Amino acid sequence: MTTPPPQPATPTRAHSFNSAAAQYAANRPSYPPALLDAIEALAARPLTGAKVIDVGAGTGIATALLRERGADVLAVEPGDGMTAEFRRAHPHIPIVRGDGNALPVATASADFLTYAQSWHWTDTARSVPEALRVLRPGGALALWWNTEALDVPWIVEAADRAERYLGIDQVVEKSGSGARAASTLAADPSGRLAFDRRQVRWSRRVPVDTHLANIGSHSAFLVLGEERTAEFFAEERGHLLQTFPDGIVEETYVVDLLVATCS
Ligand SMILES: C[S@@+](CC[C@H](N)C(=O)[O-])C[C@H]1O[C@@H](n2cnc3c(N)ncnc32)[C@H](O)[C@@H]1O
Repeated sequence: MTTPPPQPATPTRAHSFNSAAAQYAANRPSYPPALLDAIEALAARPLTGAKVIDVGAGTGIATALLRERGADVLAVEPGDGMTAEFRRAHPHIPIVRGDGNALPVATASADFLTYAQSWHWTDTARSVPEALRVLRPGGALALWWNTEALDVPWIVEAADRAERYLGIDQVVEKSGSGARAASTLAADPSGRLAFDRRQVRWSRRVPVDTHLANIGSHSAFLVLGEERTAEFFAEERGHLLQTFPDGIVEETYVVDLLVATCS
């Protein structure tokens, strides 16, 4: 697969999650324990006891895992709907409103800055300097995306169908929410951050309804509207049941992880 050119984040899509926060929380995949191991290995420091700022925290899927690892975690999230769902599900984890372009935290206050599927929504001309401001010396910026395993035939076929329906390069979309996951250059065009990369493969088995609701919580479908999304899913269900007659879909992901340690 060739590395696609960087794509600017569009404000409409960046904010589309707020109207579907409960759907997002209930159906999106989490991240495997091996991902947290890889973050610690690349950063050469443990999460336990570390001060972590989890940015674009959404409904708290990654934030909760970081907290379970023993991190002292603060969530930062720009969206109303996502913040409300976060507070409902994780009342004991602190969250503040803000975004990666202007972090509402003090200079040199974090051991880790984490972005789980959210870095691509930032303006890197602002979010890179903000990361360097907020991290303590030796602190680490960790970015990751759950990308679909494009060596699995049914996933490629489903991506092709969605691409045709949406009229976009869905393989690019699904390979990491735009170009950022595929390229360290796109993650930091200024070249100030030296990223190490690791990929972690994992899978989950979910009912076909959960799979479709997961797909439907992606911004490309959220901005499409309910009627056109329902039309696509009615046909998609038939295709999926041919591959998974028992109605249980095996989703396979490759988490694309980038970690840069600050001096
Ligand atoms: C795909 S969701 C990821 C949520 C969560 N981190 C997770 O792993 O499930 C993307 C999140 O990025 C947030 N977001 C949008 N613009 C942002 C920005 N400029 N900086 C940080 N987060 C942003 C959205 O509100 C949304 O909650």
